[in-house]
Amino acid sequence: MNIILIAGSPSAPSRSTRLLQYAGEQLALRGHRSGLLQVRDLPAQALLHAEFGNAELKAAQALVAAADAVVIATPVYKAAYSGLLKAFLDVLPQDGLAGKLVLPLATGGSQSHMLALDYALRPVLTSLSARHVLPSIYVTDAQVAWSAEQGLTIDSAIVQRLAAGIDNLSASLLALQETAVTEFAPVHFSQVRCSV
Ligand SMILES: Cc1cc2nc3c(=O)[nH]c(=O)nc-3n(C[C@H](O)[C@H](O)[C@H](O)COP(=O)(O)O)c2cc1C
Repeated sequence: MNIILIAGSPSAPSRSTRLLQYAGEQLALRGHRSGLLQVRDLPAQALLHAEFGNAELKAAQALVAAADAVVIATPVYKAAYSGLLKAFLDVLPQDGLAGKLVLPLATGGSQSHMLALDYALRPVLTSLSARHVLPSIYVTDAQVAWSAEQGLTIDSAIVQRLAAGIDNLSASLLALQETAVTEFAPVHFSQVRCSV
């Protein structure tokens, strides 16, 4: 099944994006393919002016539409998710997450805003008709670090929390796949044959 990783940080390098890439690697270890969409690479003017017809925005929308699951990462900005991420969510169709599983991740400077994903992002994901928003994962800056020499270093408690979240997503995807195989396609009444 198809998974898209959406990075909502305006910064590079970015802790939340590195964490998202780690999540992608962990999904790959469980047999799932994923692709990364960095919102900061989309044309800024088209995003800010909500140019729905812009070719790059349409291509990004198509990537989201084709996905069965979305892992969405954001830094906490002013007690909520980033404005950049909101600008992208705003140009998705109203039911842009219909049928999809969503795993939200965030990094923040402190624990103060650890509920930001639940009180700010979750209602938006639900309004976009997400099939299921999995329990979100919040990581403080002290719990994740990156350097060219050592690569990504993640606190062991967070490694466990991420593993649990990714196992949960993986299991939910497999269940979704089985449902899709066993679900009966509707048969029009004109095609029903009866014998007495
Ligand atoms: C403009 C701005 C606003 C921020 N606001 C908050 C905040 O309200 N609460 C918080 O915990 N951290 C806040 N931070 C810290 C970032 O959330 C944190 O450093 C995060 O890991 C950055 O992620 P990134 O590297 O992926 O962009 C803020 C950082 C910036 C630059």
